[in-house]
Amino acid sequence: MKTLITGFNGKTGFEVAKKAKSASIVSTCAVRSLEKAKANYGSDYSFTLLDFTKPETFEQALSDVDSIFLIYPPGEGIEFERFLETAKKRSVKHIVYLSLKDVQFMPFIHHYKNEKLIKKTGIPYTFIRAGYFMQNLNDFLLQELKERKRIFVPAGNGKTSFVDARDLAEIAVMALRNPSLHQNKSYVITGNEALTFYEVAKRMTHILETPVEYTNPSVKEFKSWMLSQGADSSFINVVTGIHFPTKLGLAKGISNDFEKITGKKQTSINEYIRDFKQYWL
Ligand SMILES: NC(=O)c1ccc[n+]([C@@H]2O[C@H](COP(=O)([O-])OP(=O)(O)OC[C@H]3O[C@@H](n4cnc5c(N)ncnc54)[C@H](OP(=O)(O)O)[C@@H]3O)[C@@H](O)[C@H]2O)c1
Repeated sequence: MKTLITGFNGKTGFEVAKKAKSASIVSTCAVRSLEKAKANYGSDYSFTLLDFTKPETFEQALSDVDSIFLIYPPGEGIEFERFLETAKKRSVKHIVYLSLKDVQFMPFIHHYKNEKLIKKTGIPYTFIRAGYFMQNLNDFLLQELKERKRIFVPAGNGKTSFVDARDLAEIAVMALRNPSLHQNKSYVITGNEALTFYEVAKRMTHILETPVEYTNPSVKEFKSWMLSQGADSSFINVVTGIHFPTKLGLAKGISNDFEKITGKKQTSINEYIRDFKQYWL
């Protein structure tokens, strides 16, 4: 039996796959293109085909699987409930689900419904309710940071609780290794401080030794700039939506769950910026 790691090509799934490998957890990594995955990683990982919009891929992806690191991917037409039904049918025994901090107050987002659907299956679960990924700085914030040395998101002057996806992966792997200890638990995993994007820019300036600014665009400015750069409007809406709670001052809560579970301090934003320095220069 093995663990299915979804979102392997994403910010968290990849970190989970690396840590699961080091912990000798037998696993298979879900991707939408086996050819690309094999070309990029050879035999370093075992791969299986899974597309959440294609239920015909579910049975095979879940064969001989007893636990899942599960993400809800971006995009339309995700057959999440159908996937869970197949997992149940296949007798999966544990789902570690990547959710969102404060999900319980946000009935309008997917994760709210998804947590309920997972509970409804009766499969033991661990919910990792995550803060704002530091990895976003290397993802949708990367281009503006690299080309214009600016953080360009409509987040106002609000604080957000940045978290390193490597810390999320650590919790996920601990839960996968010791399901009975972590089953039917919800953990809120954030970094150790909530920061405004002005503060993040200041820390980047200091560590990168080059000026980085946060320009605090309005939603209108953000949307029209992104459209002029050829970004897709649904992507622009997602990024705007992600930063809305921050702008409203609702994203600043931090949690000590990481330290309680691991006995270690969370990765700080300074450490993160140092580790990934070369990406923005
Ligand atoms: N970003 C944040 O700050 C933040 C904070 C809290 C929670 N979250 C949650 O984290 C989740 C995303 O995780 P992430 O950021 O680690 O991932 P990500 O970097 O957004 O990567 C997306 C992953 O989803 C896969 N994927 C996309 N469409 C798929 C489909 N139809 N079927 C199967 N796989 C598909 C991609 O795989 P392929 O490349 O193989 O297609 C890729 O591995 C979301 O649910 C988000 O709400 C994000």
